[in-house]
Amino acid sequence: MYLENMKSTKSLNSIKKDFPILNRQINGHPLVYLDSAATSQKPQAIIDTLVDYYKNHNANVHRGIHTLGDESTKMYDIARQTIAEFIGASDKKELIFVRNTTEAINLVAYSWGRENIKSGDEILVSEMEHHSNLVPWQMLAKEKGAVVKFINVTPEGKLDMEDLKRKLNPKTKIVSVVHVSNFLGTINPVKEIAKIIKEFQIATSKTPRNDEKRPLIFIDGAQAVPHMPVNVKELGCDFYAFSGHKMYGPMGIGCLWGKKELLEEIPPFLTGGGMINTVSKDKTTFTDLPDKFEAGTPNVAGAVGLAAAVKYLQRVGMKTVREHELELTKYALEKFKVQSSKFKINIYGPMNAEERGGLIAFTLRLRSGQAGKEVHGHDVAQVLDSQGIAVRSGHHCVMPMHDKLGLAATTRVSFGIYNTKEDVNKLVEALKKI
Ligand code: ALA
Repeated sequence: MYLENMKSTKSLNSIKKDFPILNRQINGHPLVYLDSAATSQKPQAIIDTLVDYYKNHNANVHRGIHTLGDESTKMYDIARQTIAEFIGASDKKELIFVRNTTEAINLVAYSWGRENIKSGDEILVSEMEHHSNLVPWQMLAKEKGAVVKFINVTPEGKLDMEDLKRKLNPKTKIVSVVHVSNFLGTINPVKEIAKIIKEFQIATSKTPRNDEKRPLIFIDGAQAVPHMPVNVKELGCDFYAFSGHKMYGPMGIGCLWGKKELLEEIPPFLTGGGMINTVSKDKTTFTDLPDKFEAGTPNVAGAVGLAAAVKYLQRVGMKTVREHELELTKYALEKFKVQSSKFKINIYGPMNAEERGGLIAFTLRLRSGQAGKEVHGHDVAQVLDSQGIAVRSGHHCVMPMHDKLGLAATTRVSFGIYNTKEDVNKLVEALKKI
């Protein structure tokens, strides 16, 4: 098959051919897509999988006793197994299909949070969180009279681990942090965070071997799972969430992984059909995992498409994906240093590529003329678009961190498996025209 034995960056470069959209011309230029952190493009194999599902197998799952229903149910179950194995889950029942990372966080904030958070409790997030890992916790805190606290981010764009230790206290009920920041690019040390939280529990609990009283650990993996090997068991977290559309799969499908005993304990989020055992006029009992959290007809095609994306990534190899994107990031960081006499580029987040995922947010400041004037991110993005280059500009749903840095907006380039050094060269040339 075309992806087998594909180990080097050079081989990966030919992967562009798998993505039909990358043949498009935008404003008279071949498309250079540098916005994979917002959503990745889809290879033909995933488009074909979706067409095949709807053409040949479409039926509702777990319901009718007919051949199509049976095929569809099997495909849905196999998709769950494939994705669960991909992230190192020990049981496919621990993988809940949701729409996206945002819905996964809302699920835990509402279902676990409403049962377990009370007045005066503390929820610890970081200053670099995407709004999706902040607003649901703010809503929960408001409802319960709890407090949301923030782990500081250092001037280098990293989590201040000493601040985490300082802020952990017996009132902390959950620590929810991003694995890879969609703005700073920072790869957070999840294993170390989990270790600190577990040690904190041992230091404070009256029953040291009883793990139950420590804060839970939720990880937003939306920008990690598509770009590096992730094993939820090795990370030591309790919940982990990610979206399908950022990892070459369809939109509208994502996953929440949670420890089985926790998911079993907490009540359902959405209720209705497909998640009940018995319903009478005055009482309902709920079914087991994972159906308990999947009320209504699920996005079967999305799940099947996402499993196809997982297989696609597995054939490339997640280590290869990471190495490729790391090389591109190093190259881009170097290129950004070779600056024009007209402007200066400021980069946010760690300057060591090894400490970041494949994305770079920056601002551009003019040197002469309107000296010192910052070019707004939207203007940068518009000029780049006029040359066929797609990037994201704005606050990237990370307003608190932009506020902290005194920024209204940044421009962000983000890489996927299809990007090449040539794409970075085109970006740098296009920036010179600004
Ligand atoms: N959260 C996505 C991004 O960073 C949409 O662009």
